[in-house]
Formats: sequence, structure tokens, C-alpha cells
Amino acid sequence: MMIKNICCIGAGYVGGPTMAVIAQKCPHIKVTVVDLNQDRIKAWNDTDLSRLPVYEPGLDAVVKEARGRNLFFSTEVDQAIDEAEMIFISVNTPTKTYGVGKGMAADLKYIELCARQIAKVAKSNKIVVEKSTLPVRTAQAIKDILNHTGNGVDFQILSNPEFLAEGTAIEDLFQPDRVLIGGDSTKEGEKAIQCLVDIYANWVDKDKILTTNTWSSELSKLTANAFLAQRVSSINAMSELCEKTGANVNEVSKAIGMDSRIGSKFLKASVGFGGSCFQKDILNLVYIAKSYSLHEVADYWEQVVIMNDHQKRRFAKNIINTLYNTVSGKKIAFLGWAFKKDTNDTRESAAIYVANDLLNEQAMISVYDPKVSQEQVFFDLNYLETRTAEENSKLTHVEMDPYKAIEDSHAIAVLTEWDEFKTYDWQKIYDSMLKPAFVFDGRNLLDKNKLEAIGFIYQSIGS
Ligand code: UDX
Ligand code: ADP
Repeated sequence: MMIKNICCIGAGYVGGPTMAVIAQKCPHIKVTVVDLNQDRIKAWNDTDLSRLPVYEPGLDAVVKEARGRNLFFSTEVDQAIDEAEMIFISVNTPTKTYGVGKGMAADLKYIELCARQIAKVAKSNKIVVEKSTLPVRTAQAIKDILNHTGNGVDFQILSNPEFLAEGTAIEDLFQPDRVLIGGDSTKEGEKAIQCLVDIYANWVDKDKILTTNTWSSELSKLTANAFLAQRVSSINAMSELCEKTGANVNEVSKAIGMDSRIGSKFLKASVGFGGSCFQKDILNLVYIAKSYSLHEVADYWEQVVIMNDHQKRRFAKNIINTLYNTVSGKKIAFLGWAFKKDTNDTRESAAIYVANDLLNEQAMISVYDPKVSQEQVFFDLNYLETRTAEENSKLTHVEMDPYKAIEDSHAIAVLTEWDEFKTYDWQKIYDSMLKPAFVFDGRNLLDKNKLEAIGFIYQSIGS
């Protein structure tokens, strides 16, 4: 069967870019992305492409080409489900904030709602594709709901985890290292897998498209993220030891990365990893391991998250200690709020936790990020529920101009590795600050020699 009509439920960081690329590469397929959030859909339909709800380099060009041709964004969920032969589920699966598995397990309520809605609406056979990161065996739950509440039509469930990284999503989608598709090994299951293989084969080499059983596919996603995060926590653990011993973590990282068995990627020491996936997926893995009583396995992976929390806290603590053990009433400028460069996403960003620790010490924080809005910064701080919204807005300011954010501050903390920070007039910045002027570089981004020559007291991670 040739798929001609796709629907994607969820117009977020995964659904939006992924469907835009499928539509661009497959002009013969109609792709409709639906979401309950009307504002989000409105933003995806904005004629001003700089106002798309997701910032990704290259995304605007892809949307420009395909939108209105064969790519549509809509809030008409039922209609899109009804018309589609293949339905992608790309809704969010946050860590549970209540009940059993609180703080660990993935909250599947949005997934379940989607499954129930598909079951209610579908009048013809559908292939349902899980795109969101899900705990192993979620496909079975979706299948149960569809088969017991549906209208007697046939549903095939596929797992097709997303490996795109934010900030490079379009590149990753154009040239993926691999595409993974899991499904049933029945005849119908194999047919469904082939339908999805045929879609990707429009632009991805066939030998990069792997097909597996559903559980392997689901577990591979969690495993990939756990391995990547573990590399970051491993190098961050070494960064603390480097600081004590006089070694330099950048040099250590380069030296070990040249070992082809280790490889050079994901070895950059930082203030800690963030993003919507790493912590959530590891906690989820830990929860699954515990549920099978695999305590050693659970503890092993949990340590990756513990190390990451330590790294964020250690960074804030060092700022406080260095600023003569008090930051009360002192202005500290944050360069960057997003969890990495080239994205407007702030989920689990280290900046939030560092800010929280400093605000607990009554610091005044002034934030500049090229892509993050003032509303988002306050949303992130208020979401922690550490202080009231009034207290947060009294102590925190968000500026549109980096020089204004830094003016009259005691210290700068670099939280995101945006390229533009390197191009600033650092002499002008120095002149506008209180002395001694400190830079705490949480991304090892800036040129130490240059800043020290100007007069800054410069501290990076791991040296
Ligand atoms: C990750 C996975 O890379 C991707 O395959 C998956 O689909 C989703 O999760 P993402 O969270 O978008 O992608 O970004 P990633 O590039 O993996 O970075 C995650 C965090 O680790 C960021 O905060 C980043 O700054 C940090 N990081 C990464 C480091 O601190 N050091 C590194 O060397 C690499
Ligand atoms: P991700 O990074 O996984 O893409 P996001 O939070 O950016 O996560 O996007 C998920 C989107 O899914 C949100 O825009 C949310 O409104 C949408 N969503 C959640 N549940 C449903 C549902 N039942 N029907 C339609 N859209 C949904």
C-alpha cells in the first residue's frame, strides 16, 4: 500500500520539524499536523516565518516550501485522523508529577488520550506510529486501547523513535545516522513496516533504515539517550577532579576523544545537560529496571542524573563562594537560558536550576538569551514553585540587549553556548561592570587569555 495521507498528533519540537521534512521530501503525500493548542497551530500558520513556535536553523525554508502545498497545520484533530492512513503520535510524555512512579515514570496520559481519540474516530484501517519517547511496551497499551474501543477496524502499531537533536533537527532529519522502525513480525505488521520504510526511502539510503521488533525499537531510544547523557556526566565528573588536580578537562577530553574506540563527540564538559529527553528517559529507564527488581541496573543509570544535578549545584555554589560567600543584592548576568544553542527550548535547562540556587541566596538575576522570551523565563522559574511569582519578578529581569543585561553587574554566568557571545565587545562589557568583574563560563565557550588580558577574573568548568 502507498501512503498518501498522513496525520501527526502533536505540533511540538518533534512533530513540527519531522512532518515538515516528510512533507518537503514527499510532495505526493498530504501531511496534516494537528494540535489541541490553538495558539501553537496559529503560530505554525503565521505568514511571518520568524514567528514559528519552534526555532530551528533551516526550518523556516522547509515550512515555506511545503506549507499550503502538502503540509497543513490544523486544530481539526478528528478530521485529520479520519482522512489519514498513517497517524504519528508526537505528543509530550513528561515525567509523572503525581502518584505511583512520581518523578520517575513517564506520564502516558496524553498518549492514552490520543489512542482513545483514534479508536473513536477511525472508520478505516490505520497504521499508528509512536514517535514520542515512550517506556518499553507502550505499543502494547496503545494496541489494547485501539482494539478494545475501536470500531472493528485493523490497527497496526509501529515504533519509530526520533533521534533528532534540537538545534540541528533539520540536518538530522535530512541525513539521519539511521532510521529505526519497530513492528510486529506478523504479515500485517511487516506490511505496515514496509509502508513506513517506503516513506523514508524517498530521501534516506535503504541501508540506514533498520527494522526491528517493537520492544527493541522502544528500548533503543532510551538506551541511546542514556549512553549520550552518560558521556556528558562522565566528563563532568572528571571536570571536578581536574579542578582539584590542576588538569584541564578540555585537554583530557581531546586526548581521550582521539581514541577511535571512545570518539570525540559528547565529551564537552558543561554546567550540566538539559533538554526534554536525557533526564526523562534515564529516569524512565531506572523506573523500568526497578519494576523488574533490577536494582543494580537502576542504580547504575540513576547515577548519571545524580552527577548532573551535582554539576549544576556545584556551578551555582562556586559563584557564591567566589563572590565572597554572598550574592545577596548582587547583580549576576546570565548569558543564555536555552538548554543548548540554536534552540528556543528551555526544558530542563541548567540555567533554571542555577538561577534558582542563586535566587535562594537573594541574588538579582538579569537574563539575556537571543531566542527565549521573557514569558518563558518567568514560566520556568515559577514552575519550580520555590518562590512566588511576585518574588521571582522582583529579583529577575529579562533583557533584549546583552549589554544592558550585563551593565553594573558583579558577574556574568555563561549558561548556553550561543555563538554570538564570542563576538561581543568584551572590553566595553568589562568597562560597564562593577570590579572585580567575574565571568563564570559554564560552557567553556570564551577565550580565557583574551578575557584575562582585559582584566576579568575568568573561571571555566574543569580547569
Ligand atoms: C537528545 C539526543 O541527542 C537526541 O538524539 C534525542 O532524540 C533527543 O535527546 P537534545 O536533547 O535535543 O537531543 O540535545 P543534545 O545535543 O543531545 O544535548 C543535550 C544536552 O547535553 C544539552 O544541554 C547539551 O548542552 C548537553 N551536552 C551535550 C553537553 O553538556 N556536552 C556535550 O558534549 C554534549
Ligand atoms: P516534543 O518535544 O515531544 O515534541 P512538545 O511539548 O513540544 O513535545 O509537543 C507536544 C505537543 O502535543 C504539544 O503542542 C501539545 O499541545 C500536543 N498534544 C498533547 N496531547 C494532545 C492531544 N491529545 N491531541 C493533540 N495534541 C496534543
